[in-house]
Amino acid sequence: MTPQPLIKIQNIAKVYQTGEIQVRALDNVSFKINRGEFVAIMGPSGSGKSTLMHIIGALDKPTSGQYLLEGKNVEKLNEDELAEIRNQKIGFVFQFYNLLPRTSALKNVMIPMMYGGIAKEDRARKARSYLAMVGLQNRLEHTPGQLSGGQQQRVAIARALSMNPSIILADEPTGNIASKQAIEIMKILDQLNRKGRTIVVITHENEIAECTKRIIFLRDGHLEKDKPNKKRRNLTKIAL
Ligand SMILES: Nc1ncnc2c1ncn2[C@@H]1O[C@H](COP(=O)(O)OP(=O)(O)OP(=O)(O)O)[C@@H](O)[C@H]1O
Ligand SMILES: [Mg+2]
Repeated sequence: MTPQPLIKIQNIAKVYQTGEIQVRALDNVSFKINRGEFVAIMGPSGSGKSTLMHIIGALDKPTSGQYLLEGKNVEKLNEDELAEIRNQKIGFVFQFYNLLPRTSALKNVMIPMMYGGIAKEDRARKARSYLAMVGLQNRLEHTPGQLSGGQQQRVAIARALSMNPSIILADEPTGNIASKQAIEIMKILDQLNRKGRTIVVITHENEIAECTKRIIFLRDGHLEKDKPNKKRRNLTKIAL
């Protein structure tokens, strides 16, 4: 028996209606992602990347087609079930970090655990270990304003890990970060993938996509190409 894919997207379309104007942001998109994959979703501005991320992340539903996450039809879930999936199954990383300002790195990482029912006495210990994983063991009490962009994104990655999700879903995680720090972020994602974590990165930058194992190209809402990345960049030699 072939293992069940983690993500199965089947003939998905997404149509936005704004006044008189209809935009077909995704059209007939299909692919599967298995556990342990490291995938980039690429495409020019407006090609549908964020729309697709919102669907994969159960933040939005397609207009037609099917999305199965671990074999579950996401369309059939109610708001509470969707919220639970977003908290337990998916670790989100956003372009603008979305950290709470004036709140320490440690607390930012602990917040999803508060909502996710992790025992109070375990939260700080787990948060410390995730922050150590991204190299921030010496920045626990720093607030976002006291951290560089790359460091803030590392806090966001630690937060994404906090509920031990099936998948890390990152939308332009390096979009606001200088290129040296961007490669460090990719190295962290690469390390997590080497430990078995499934990672999906949305990007419009070749440099970033080349760090992954598989690249899916979108154009005008269509899946243009989906192929293994043969020119994978070796990140193991980059120091953090
Ligand atoms: N909420 C919305 N309402 C109406 N149209 C939308 C909405 N969100 C996106 N669109 C349209 O859908 C298309 C795809 O947008 P999307 O944000 O998915 O692109 P993207 O590939 O993420 O682009 P970028 O690289 O600029 O972030 C665009 O033409 C956009 O104008
Ligand atoms: Mg986008």
